[in-house]
Amino acid sequence: MAQEKCQLLIDGELVNAESGKTFQCINPANGDVLALIAEGDAPDIDKAVNAARRAFEQHWRDMDVGERGQLLRKVADLLRERLDDLALLETLDNGKPLADSKAGDIPGAAAYFDFYAGAVDKIHGDTVPFPGFFNYTVREPLGVVGAIVPWNYPLALAAIKCAPALACGNTVVLKPAEQTPLTALELGKICLDAGLPPGVLNVVTGFGPTAGAALARHTGVAKVTFTGSSEVGHKILEMSAANLKRTVLELGGKTANIVFADANWDAALNSAVRTIFLNQGQICTAGSRLLIEESIKDEFVGQLVAKAERLKVGDPLKPDTKMGAIVSKEQLDRIKMYIELGKEAGATLLTGGREPEAPELAGGYFMLPTVFDDVDNSMRIAQEEIFGPVLSVITFEDEDDAIAKANDVKYGLASALWTKDITKAHRVSRQLESGIVWVNVTNVVGPQSPYCGYKASGLGHESGMDAIETFTRLKSVWVNLSDEPHPWADM
Ligand code: NAI
Ligand code: MG
Repeated sequence: MAQEKCQLLIDGELVNAESGKTFQCINPANGDVLALIAEGDAPDIDKAVNAARRAFEQHWRDMDVGERGQLLRKVADLLRERLDDLALLETLDNGKPLADSKAGDIPGAAAYFDFYAGAVDKIHGDTVPFPGFFNYTVREPLGVVGAIVPWNYPLALAAIKCAPALACGNTVVLKPAEQTPLTALELGKICLDAGLPPGVLNVVTGFGPTAGAALARHTGVAKVTFTGSSEVGHKILEMSAANLKRTVLELGGKTANIVFADANWDAALNSAVRTIFLNQGQICTAGSRLLIEESIKDEFVGQLVAKAERLKVGDPLKPDTKMGAIVSKEQLDRIKMYIELGKEAGATLLTGGREPEAPELAGGYFMLPTVFDDVDNSMRIAQEEIFGPVLSVITFEDEDDAIAKANDVKYGLASALWTKDITKAHRVSRQLESGIVWVNVTNVVGPQSPYCGYKASGLGHESGMDAIETFTRLKSVWVNLSDEPHPWADM
């Protein structure tokens, strides 16, 4: 695969960047160069936005909704047909275990296209009672949508944005993360194979401050939907201001996974491990803070550490691998920095905190599952998003203490809680300041359900039928039901 060149996909054509520049796409499990990627920048973004605008006006906006739905359904079918190839590509590019790409990422992406294929003919306005008038609302597409996605779930997060955008009649310019551009380009090709007109989905690869910023600034773009760091999210909001773009931001998180003493022990234990070590901890809803009731802490954490130490960290292509590579050297360095910060702050490192020693992993970026005990909620490892396999164990005394500590972070994406007491479960859920609350489970998501961040975790929401609202604009039409001049018309 080395030496393969990947071009931009603009207006249905694979083209080089205007500058002719390329950058290397790396396999983080061994450092190999997978491909050379076209380095798009402002001129390429401009071309893509213009192509998307033409496709919007000439094909997509006014297409029969039944036909549009069928095309999106076909995209879902092709994603499933190409499961093995896409899963391999995602794993080579991102470093996640192949089994996870196959079971999670690719079917997940297909599920979003399925759901929104079915939503296409259910997008409608309302009638509003008003004496003397027929007042109705129409939901119209916005135009060109810019989608900027990160590297942790490259294809699935492209789908969560592109599927509803397209379903609503918008056209899209997709800017994948520079670390993981490969499956986004495949999605673009699949859309063409499915029969979407050229220019409906354009894919411009490149870096954030150049291609990404050009997309966020472009005045021909009606909405930007972004997933990534809070720092960049703030910049996106500023750049969107020029033409008052609608902006949806899905940013970081610091999920509290609250385990009460009356929890279903085995289920809570399994989930406490999975929620922080799945995808090498690179999940915005990773349960990175285990809030555990004091009375069960020693026994629970002892068992958790034993389980963490049994997780196989290794070659993402091997079937028994549970944790693959961290996406990049930069991300690994960031994780290591936080591990040092944890030690300096006085947290107790129970396990991990270093790279695995196996010589066959030496060329890649790996980190052992890491657990810190005696973490105070004010420490940086408890407050900041690490985005790696690093768990902070924090104890609480009672329900109020648990709620206070869970909410005492700037983020508010998700929380989880474990108890067999149903009234306590509902009572605590209400008080958690996060857009998602999981009760006796963690990290379930699906296209049917909205995904929203409170506080510094984001702006607006994605997924579910609620996303339709964010990808459309509302028009209110007033029809006078009288042939007589209306009194308001008299001057
Ligand atoms: P990032 O926020 O820099 O990158 C995400 C996307 O934004 C990429 O496509 C990137 O090219 C683009 N981007 C970067 N700068 C931009 C700019 N000035 N204008 C427009 N687009 C821009 O995230 P990064 O640096 O890869 O990861 C750093 C940290 O961000 C992680 O450690 C993690 O804490 C957080 N993060 C959170 C994610 C989430 O799912 N909420 C996903 C990825 C990262
Ligand atoms: Mg890569």
